[in-house]
Amino acid sequence: HVLHLDILSLFPEAIEPYLSSSVLARAKRTGTVDICVTNFRDFSEDRHKTVDDYPFGGGAGMLLKAPPLFAAVDHVRALRNLEYAPRVIMMTPQGRTFNQAVARELKKERHLIFLCGHYEGFDDRVRQHLATDELSIGDFVLTGGELAALVVVDAVVRLMPGVLGNEESPKQDSHENGMLEYPQYTRPRKFREWEVPEVLLSGHHENIEAWRRREALANTCRNRPDLFMKLPLDERERSEIVR
Ligand code: ADE
Repeated sequence: HVLHLDILSLFPEAIEPYLSSSVLARAKRTGTVDICVTNFRDFSEDRHKTVDDYPFGGGAGMLLKAPPLFAAVDHVRALRNLEYAPRVIMMTPQGRTFNQAVARELKKERHLIFLCGHYEGFDDRVRQHLATDELSIGDFVLTGGELAALVVVDAVVRLMPGVLGNEESPKQDSHENGMLEYPQYTRPRKFREWEVPEVLLSGHHENIEAWRRREALANTCRNRPDLFMKLPLDERERSEIVR
C-alpha cells in the first residue's frame, strides 16, 4: 500500500530539498510513498495571514493559533482517502520520544500528517483535539519541528518494502534487536598499520557470527549501558563482555 505523508509547516522551503534527494526522492518516484508539504499560513482566515498570537495569561513568546492548523488538516484529509483515519503527529519537545519501535508502528499506517511549529508552541487545543500523537526526537530543543518531522519521515520511509536495495538490511540495523550493530570492514585488508580482524577473512561462518555478536554486545555495553542492561543474556555471556 502507498503511505501518504503530509507535512504542515510555515517553511516548506526548509523541508523540500531533503525530500528531493537520495532514498526519499526514489521512494516518491517509485510510488511507495506520496509526500506533500503544505504551508498552513495559506489557511489563515485574516487579511494579514496571521498564524500566531500572544499567550493568554501573559508570558514570553508567541503561540501558533488553532484555526489555521485545523483548516489545513481538514484540507489535506479531504485530498486523501477518507476511509483511513490519519495519524496527526504534532512535533514538539514535550512529546513522547521517537524511536525505532515507533517507526515500525507508523510504517503500518496509510496516512500520516505532521504538524511543525516554528520558534513557538502550539495552542493546547491542537494537542487536545487535533493531534493523535505528540512526538519528540530527543531531549533538546530545535528552532522548529521541520527537522524533527524529517527525521521521523526518513526513519519510517526507509522501512517501507522495496525502499532499501536489500530487503534484509533493516533487520541488522542498530536498535532493531535492542542492541547496537557490530563493526564492519571493507578493503583494503591493511590500512596504515591497521589490519582487518583475522576472523572476518577466515570464511568460518560460525566463528564470524560469534565474533559479531560479541562485538555488538561490547559496543552496546560501552555506549548504551541502558540498552545493555535490558538484554536477556546469561551470566556467562554478560560477564565475558563487561570484564
Ligand atoms: N521542536 C522543537 N524541538 C523539538 C524536538 N526535540 N522534537 C520534536 N519537535 C521539536
